[in-house]
This record gives sequence, C-alpha cells and structure tokens, in this order.
Amino acid sequence: MRNICMVGTGYVGLVSGACLADFGNKVICVDIDEERIDMIKRGVMPIYEPGLKEIVERNQVAGRLEFTTDVESAVRKSQVIFSAVGTPQGEDGSADLSAVFNVAEDVAKYIEEYKIFVQKSTVPVGTSEKVGEIIRNNLVADVEFDRVSNPEFLREGSAIEDFLRPNRVVIGVETERAKEIMREIYRPLYLLETPIVFTKIKTAELIKYASNAFLATKISFINEIADLCEVVGADVDEVAVAMGLDKRIGPKFLHAGVGYGGSCLPKDVSAILHTARKENVELKIINAAFEVNKARLERLHEKLRSALGELKGRVVAVLGLSFKPNTDDLREAPAIKFIMKLLDEGASVNTYDPVAMKNAKGILGERVSFLDNSYDAADGADALVIMTEWNEFRVLDLERIKKLLKQPVLIDCRNIYKPSEVKKLGFKYQSFGRMPD
Ligand SMILES: NC(=O)c1ccc[n+]([C@@H]2O[C@H](COP(=O)([O-])OP(=O)(O)OC[C@H]3O[C@@H](n4cnc5c(N)ncnc54)[C@H](O)[C@@H]3O)[C@@H](O)[C@H]2O)c1
Repeated sequence: MRNICMVGTGYVGLVSGACLADFGNKVICVDIDEERIDMIKRGVMPIYEPGLKEIVERNQVAGRLEFTTDVESAVRKSQVIFSAVGTPQGEDGSADLSAVFNVAEDVAKYIEEYKIFVQKSTVPVGTSEKVGEIIRNNLVADVEFDRVSNPEFLREGSAIEDFLRPNRVVIGVETERAKEIMREIYRPLYLLETPIVFTKIKTAELIKYASNAFLATKISFINEIADLCEVVGADVDEVAVAMGLDKRIGPKFLHAGVGYGGSCLPKDVSAILHTARKENVELKIINAAFEVNKARLERLHEKLRSALGELKGRVVAVLGLSFKPNTDDLREAPAIKFIMKLLDEGASVNTYDPVAMKNAKGILGERVSFLDNSYDAADGADALVIMTEWNEFRVLDLERIKKLLKQPVLIDCRNIYKPSEVKKLGFKYQSFGRMPD
C-alpha cells in the first residue's frame, strides 16, 4: 500500500485514482476545479462513466479515497504524485503542456522528502525530462525525487474495466527504487498476470503515441477500403470481419464510418506528427491516416446532399452526440462538427442523445432543438442521421420513424442496420462501405 496523490481529477485522474484506491492504495485526488471536487464529495460524478460512482463510493467508505483542492496537503501526505491533467491540442497541432508544467511547478514546492513524480497524461517524448528540470528548479529542500512515465490506455465508456483489467501497463523508470514502488502500486494486476512493461521513460512516452497513431491508422485504413467497397459493390463490414479473423490483424478498430473523434486520437495523431516535423522525420503513414480522417465528414455531407439536394431550409434529425456510446464526452465528436456544418449551410437540426445533451447545450446553445427521444427528434425532419451507436439506436421502431419523417431518408454512420431490411421498409438508406441493397 502506498500513499498516492492524483493531480487532475478528470476522466483519467478520477478513474485512475478510484481504481488505484481499489488496489488498496491510499489516494488523494486533487483538482483546481472547486465545483468538480464539490460535486464528487456530494456523490455526483462530473462525468458519465459506467461503474464510476460505485467504485468511488466503495473506496471513500473504506477510507482509501479522498478529494480536495488543497494540493499542498495532498502532496505532503503522499509519496507518489501522479499527474493526470489535460494535454489538449495547441494551435500548431502540438500538445499544449501548460497544465503539465504548472503541476510540476506547483508540486515541487511541497516536496520535502523522497517522492516519485508519475506522468499519467499523454505527453510528447522528452516531456518528463523538462518536468524533471522544472521540479528541480522549484524544490525548496535538497531532496531526491524520481520521475516515472506511466501512460494511460483506458477507453471512455469502459474505463473502469480497462483500468482494472488492462491489456498491459507501461512504466518508464530510471531507478530500481521507483521501479519497486510502481510494481507494488500495481501489484493486484501483477497477480492477475497482466503484462507490466518496464522501459525507459522516453520509450514509455512514445509507446502511448505510437499506439494511438496505430489505432487511428486502422480506422482510416478501413474507411478507405469502405470507399472502394462502395464503388466496386463489396461490403466493408464483411471485409472487416474476415480481415479481423486473422490474428495478426485483429477485429478491433475496423469499423467504417465518419472517422475517429474523441479526446485522444485526433490530438495525439496531431501531436506525434508535430513531434516528427520538429525532428525532421517524415511519418507518411500517420500523416495519411490524419488526412483520410479529415475528409470523412465531407463523405457524410455528400451522402446527405445526394439524398436531399440543397440543405438550406431542411430539417435534419441527428441521433447521438458523444463521439462514442457510454460517454458524455464531446471533445472532437464528429456529431458536433457535423451539426455546426449543417447550421452553417442553413439547415435546422433536431437532436437527441441519451447522456450528452447537457454538455452539447453548452456548445450548441439555442441553435439546435434538443428533444427527449429519437422519435421526437425524427418528427417532421427531412432526414435522420445516426451518428453514435448507442444501444437504443440499434432497436428503433423504424416503421414509426418513417411515419414521423417528412421524407424516408436514413443515413446510418455506424452501419447498424441491414441495407436490405431497411430498404424493404421503404427508406432511402445510406451507410458506409455497403451497397444500398
Ligand atoms: N480521456 C481519455 O479517454 C484518456 C485516455 C488515456 C489518456 N488520456 C490522457 O490523460 C490526460 C488527461 O485527460 P482527461 O481526459 O482526463 O482530461 P480532463 O480534461 O478530463 O481532466 C483534466 C483535469 O485536470 C484538472 N487540472 C488542470 N490543471 C490542474 C492543476 N494545475 N492542478 C490540478 N488539477 C488540474 C482539470 O480541472 C481537469 O479536471 C490527457 O493527457 C489525455 O490525453 C485520456
């Protein structure tokens, strides 16, 4: 058992903090956002994540998990300081590291005995070195500290399960002392025979970007195959399933559609490309994955325009706002970009999402009609577009939907429905990489 401080209580910090407490460690989660910390203390989770509330409550009750805005006392009481603050995309495509560096400066002032500083945020190669310098320059006592890189691979929507049963844990370390403490923190996973990859800090930093860039490449790859399928009359879903049965390829991240979004892949792809440009290295494949993804929303617009013609004055019903099911995260969500483009072109938008509407209202405001369910969204619309594969969108009463729509136009960006069945109901149906019937 170790005393841990988790600086940054967002998606990663809150989940990691709660799960590390579940492993038996004593964890204090810190955030500068007072409202967020107050909410959690009142038992209200600031994000939608299945199973989060239960694991937070269980560990609070057991006395292993606390929340505070007081970074000083949290750092003083802890031997291991994790940093899980955001690293959003900067204007030039690089990762914005201002929060990461602020945390290092802040924390350093309270290090008066040996501590480990663990970077959990996704940060470009070499960041740990810079963070080490900042800490050294701001120490008030002559003490030793170790740096560790422990990138996080959890997926929103299944974050708890991913943290408790990961495919692997990556730990970049420089000293045996830090290695042993990190091993102890992750001991329950070690007992479950989870591969724990100990490596150099720079290698750990790059593993995270290489992994996300590879996943993005898989998505862009299948999207290009989808475009080819549409032209030659093949079915991308069957292509993907058969490809995925090859263990060297695997079935995940081979779903054709509107491309990747979310809080990680877009910014991490941009950041690794930025790093490479800075180092005069050309990453041709990752660059192509980026370019292919950028063009995906235009493919959706083409499909909508081919069904409706001019979009000005049309009403489009959009189902699903979050970038994937089981989360309310709207960062880089294709649905939001799509809606903004529809509005720019003079269309009106009705929308419904099971959990992300509150966040979406903050972004889209009055310009969009937020409805209580899929049927109200479809009522009077010229087309229905399914953007996110929430379970409830997989079982829509399509006959009812057809009656509610002004025109029976259905665009299925997640290939949920079978073209032949939907067509039989009289829909003008389009999906990605499949022929209409
Ligand atoms: N979200 C994911 O699915 C995911 C998965 C793997 C890795 N990551 C990486 O983890 C990092 C965090 O991502 P996130 O999605 O949890 O971000 P987030 O924006 O949800 O959370 C960041 C939190 O840090 C807080 N914060 C900022 N500056 C602070 C400071 N100085 N002191 C204390 N708190 C501070 C913010 O108030 C916020 O609550 C990023 O680098 C991201 O790339 C995210």
